[in-house]
Amino acid sequence: MKIRTFETERYYAKYEFTTPHLLSVSDCETVSIDELLQLGGYSYDEFAKIRLGYTESQGDPLLRARVADGYENVDADHVLILNSPVEGIYLAICSILEPGDEAIIMTPAYDALINLAESISSQVIRWQINLTTTGWQLDLDKLQAVISENTKLIVVNFPHNPSGLLPSEEEFSRLVALANHYGIWLFCDEMYRGLEFSQRATLPSAADLYQRSIVLAGLSKSHGLPGLRAGWLIVRDAELRQQIINWRDYTSICPAAPVEFLARVALDAGENLVQRNNKIIRDNIRLANAFFARWAEMFTWRAPEAGSVALVGISVSSATQYSHQLAKKAGVLLLPAKFMGYDDRHVRFGFGRLSFPSALAAYEEHLEQNENVPAIDS
Ligand SMILES: Cc1ncc(COP(=O)(O)O)c(C=O)c1O
Repeated sequence: MKIRTFETERYYAKYEFTTPHLLSVSDCETVSIDELLQLGGYSYDEFAKIRLGYTESQGDPLLRARVADGYENVDADHVLILNSPVEGIYLAICSILEPGDEAIIMTPAYDALINLAESISSQVIRWQINLTTTGWQLDLDKLQAVISENTKLIVVNFPHNPSGLLPSEEEFSRLVALANHYGIWLFCDEMYRGLEFSQRATLPSAADLYQRSIVLAGLSKSHGLPGLRAGWLIVRDAELRQQIINWRDYTSICPAAPVEFLARVALDAGENLVQRNNKIIRDNIRLANAFFARWAEMFTWRAPEAGSVALVGISVSSATQYSHQLAKKAGVLLLPAKFMGYDDRHVRFGFGRLSFPSALAAYEEHLEQNENVPAIDS
């Protein structure tokens, strides 16, 4: 199987560890293993005693039970512990889609959500979010218009990377009702769930609402632990779950034992980590509001409703060229929205890191120094 380049990851592989001012990353502030053990109330000795044999293929029953506790209608049996959140996208899409199957993917989207489906089937419809005067919106009428008996899968992501869109409960219910009407699989990427830093309430999980949902969640974003590579799928349908487990036998067989232990610690430390990250995002968005007010001619800013990222309009002729040049000349890293299936006049900003204020200040200094110079995009 041939697959398109994973543009976002190739871009970060090139710049993330050599560019000092990261303004676009989607994860949140991380902690050390030591801090994590303390926050979760575990000792280093407990961690050091983990044995490094093969683990249970579906995941540690204690961890699966701990994950299931976070949902209303989910049992430990429905949970599959992954070796990384992104693995869950691969396993689910490969298990569900066959060549010629019709799928509808909310776009823009994290590359894997689009590229895997499009590499398997030529019948993939990109369902684009709308830009309105009040911000980003789902176009549910459009979804209703493109759904048919032939639709096998709908892929969504809430809170949304890269726009920060969070639908209302009514909109989400309508979407689930549409999937239910036709018995369509609903893959709901909930990697940013818990990052509701403003007044918006957390959306119910699709896992609690719909039997034919596949929910992806994990600890990379809300808990700030992307280096742990901890994530899980919730699959209530037993037959699909077995197909997904079968696919995983071909990728990684079983979860890593130290990761399963630390994931349990992180879930016990959960609220501390998540609340801390919500506060960091809230503080950074306050700075962003002021920054974008000062640079209103250069950017079109819509603050995110939830999550750690926002999609920002930028008045350059190519956001991709501009971002490469900016990284090289000013050491500031934005992410072109084109990589995620959007136009080349938008970039992603990310607000989850404590270094955001200094990165924003470095960018502003660069903008001030180059104010009368044409944008560095050629
Ligand atoms: C929407 C979405 N889903 C899944 C992932 C994959 O998470 P991870 O990199 O922790 O595997 C990401 C990562 O950026 C993401 O933004």
